[in-house]
Amino acid sequence: MRLGREATAAICFFGLLSVSGQPQAQRPQMAEDVFKNLQIIKGIPVDEFMDTMGMFSAATSMNCTDCHTSDSTTTWDKFANDTPLKQTARRMMLMVNAINKENFKGVRAVTCYTCHNGTRRPKVVPSLMVQYGAPVEDPNEIETFPNTPGPSADEVFEKYIQALGGVQRLAQLTSFTAKGTYTGYDTEQTKAPVEIFAKAPAQRTTIVHAPFGDSVRTYDGRSGWIASADKPLPLMTLTGGNADGAKVDAMVFFPAQLKQAFNQWRVTSTVIDDKEVRVLQGTNPRQPPVNLYFDESGLLVRLVRFVDTAVGRVPMQIDYADYREVSGVKVPFRWTATWTDGQSTTQLNELQPNVQIDAARFAKPAPAPPIK
Ligand code: HEC
Ligand code: HEC
Repeated sequence: MRLGREATAAICFFGLLSVSGQPQAQRPQMAEDVFKNLQIIKGIPVDEFMDTMGMFSAATSMNCTDCHTSDSTTTWDKFANDTPLKQTARRMMLMVNAINKENFKGVRAVTCYTCHNGTRRPKVVPSLMVQYGAPVEDPNEIETFPNTPGPSADEVFEKYIQALGGVQRLAQLTSFTAKGTYTGYDTEQTKAPVEIFAKAPAQRTTIVHAPFGDSVRTYDGRSGWIASADKPLPLMTLTGGNADGAKVDAMVFFPAQLKQAFNQWRVTSTVIDDKEVRVLQGTNPRQPPVNLYFDESGLLVRLVRFVDTAVGRVPMQIDYADYREVSGVKVPFRWTATWTDGQSTTQLNELQPNVQIDAARFAKPAPAPPIK
């Protein structure tokens, strides 16, 4: 017995070591290990699988239960049942893969969104209203970065740091705990108490005391997890753009090193709510970009980041507001996150700067107990 256990431990330990000898986050669970009836989407982690479902919904404006049976909302098992629309979606995936393979060297040039454009049945006849109407611009669609006149990326960062309170004061805020309320699709729009623990440069744990139990999100500076009973897994490891994104989300509260977190910055301007904003796009090799939007006062008002799914890239938007001064540093007290699968608003009402936070707060959380 003893030998058996040690042998297993040894194998696990070996599996947890990366090339550099640093312990690594455990391999995330793959979609096909968790779900029962996958025929096409295999070999991707569970978080990316769920983002793929978000892409389906965003591209076609269909709800989860349009493709899945209506009893799916009661238990995750029911999502395995097949429906005619689910079968169509499978055919569509094969079609899109073939289009990209045959015409675009396998690059994901065509996604579900290319044809569907947010409608269930792609349009066939062009619209004269669209052709002759005023163009509707989405500030999140930053595809080219022309040399728009205005401050450079360095100047924008400088103004941002200044607007927040300056380098020195910023350096003095190294951690905080905060309390407030969280409202989202997952809490059925009721206000749930939320607690936040944050430590520079990039550690953060958010606990939403949701009606179905505690929903915990942790980023320890290198790895991230969600432990929440409403997810298909009681403990879901963040991968790819979700992990990179969790890091940026955490850094926004200690932004002194945000500029250094990306290899390259490009700059342009756009408009949000009739107000001119300066946009910085940060890129790192092999990562989707991150767009930061700064208003006239220099403060960060929006962050848009992306996650690559099995069928194309999906956006995640966070809008920051209600900046308040905490020991000389401005901190956003409200933010709204919008993604393909939901929207939530966090409103802080108290924040304690520079408190000692137990390291265990940022450790991998325990799996969420099942909903009673
Ligand atoms: C356009 C249709 C469509 C929409 C909308 C859609 N799905 Fe799916 N879903 C599918 C297809 C197709 C599969 C099977 C994929 C495969 O066979 O590889 C699937 C599989 C799943 C599975 C795996 C079930 C199992 O055990 O095999 C889950 C869970 C799931 N979807 C959840 C969702 C959620 C949550 C939403 C809403 C955010 C959603 N889906 C929206 C088409 C859809
Ligand atoms: C090349 C264009 C194109 C792409 C790309 C595309 N679709 Fe479609 N899709 C269509 C057309 C056209 C129809 C409508 C056929 C009809 O009218 O019956 C359709 C129909 C559907 C339907 C059935 C809607 C209904 O009410 O009957 C679903 C579901 C669907 N697509 C999902 C997807 C998904 C998911 C993707 C990405 C994997 C995707 N489509 C990519 C062209 C496309």
